[in-house]
Amino acid sequence: MTALPLAVHHVRAPALLDLRSEFPAVPPDWAYLDAAATAQKPRAVIEAITRAYAEDYATVHRGVYQRSARMTEAYEAAREAAARFIGARADEVVFVRGATEGINLVAQAWGQDNIGPGDRILLSVLEHHSNIVPWRLLADRTGAAIDVAPLTDDGRIDETALIAALRPETKLVAIAHVSNVLGAIADVARIAAAARAVGARLLVDGCQAAPRLALDVASLGCDFYVFSGHKLYGPTGIGVLWARAGILEAMPPWQGGGGMIEEVRFDRVTFTSVPARFEAGTPHIVGAIGLHAAIDWVRSVGIEAIEAHEAALTEIARAELEAAGARVFGPPRSAGILSFAVGEVHPHDVATILDEAGVAIRAGHHCAQPLMRHLGVPATARASVCAHTTEADIARLVEGVKRVRRIFG
Ligand code: ALA
Repeated sequence: MTALPLAVHHVRAPALLDLRSEFPAVPPDWAYLDAAATAQKPRAVIEAITRAYAEDYATVHRGVYQRSARMTEAYEAAREAAARFIGARADEVVFVRGATEGINLVAQAWGQDNIGPGDRILLSVLEHHSNIVPWRLLADRTGAAIDVAPLTDDGRIDETALIAALRPETKLVAIAHVSNVLGAIADVARIAAAARAVGARLLVDGCQAAPRLALDVASLGCDFYVFSGHKLYGPTGIGVLWARAGILEAMPPWQGGGGMIEEVRFDRVTFTSVPARFEAGTPHIVGAIGLHAAIDWVRSVGIEAIEAHEAALTEIARAELEAAGARVFGPPRSAGILSFAVGEVHPHDVATILDEAGVAIRAGHHCAQPLMRHLGVPATARASVCAHTTEADIARLVEGVKRVRRIFG
């Protein structure tokens, strides 16, 4: 990798976290700025996963032997940890493969009973495809309509316009807590109060919020909250769907199989209570244990400390990218995520040159094509910071952007 000089910072950072040595897959000379796509794993998580397979492994909820009983306890302890992490009760937490599966579960199970012809689903322009496509499929199936709240000039959900778009027919509002492209943070509590006033449910895609903001579903006031483990320093293939208890209990199952039934006959099946009703088949046992380790790791660092660390680095990155001639999209305050353009250079070229300089960013439409259309670009370059990001990583990014400008004149 090319050695790069440190940039002179225009903004001085307060005390930053120093966690790089806890991430064995992130060498000191590699700026991994793609945590919004997936986070690297701290040693504590890797060790918990290894231990679960190498020493403790057995099935859950099915074995009468002691090893299985201990594994069941570990699996359910993970559920309790996930619930505590967002201020919820364990029986309101369903383990899913990730946020995408959580949203699809709600669209199918809740949607089946609660959305019909003439009903309306309200989204926003900045949603990730995983918070658009399941609703489009549901609308096509049921004859419902989709409304789309606009953005403010600086790229946040226009909450006033969203609230004005609520109608008696609006049955569901589904929004991202933090935009995966712009880092814009939604005022969930404000939107929740307005949705409640018209009798609409609120689903929040918390994928980018869970790794960087303190969460409490009670004060957010939403009805559904989803997040993925792999963006929260945990393994892939595990995520959380939280739903308010009364809502979850009223929902029919969405997948059938072992573990979610009470009694099975060929002519009639009865189902077990929540959350097991929504976890058909042998679950991702070690995924849940890895997620538990990730949550414990984040709690040991402190989510507020991570938020402050990311805010400081994002401010530095924004100022220095702009000073280096890049155009930064999105609001002045963004949570850990910055999308930018370097003149007319295609974002894939930007990302390729940065990669040669030891900087990993994402380039593309970021699964947010309606937002790209709104921004008037086919794609953006996106840098995202996380708990192990350093000022040197940002300096490497900025030097790489200067190199892009030199190469493309
Ligand atoms: N949603 C992930 C991202 O924004 C994959 O990169």
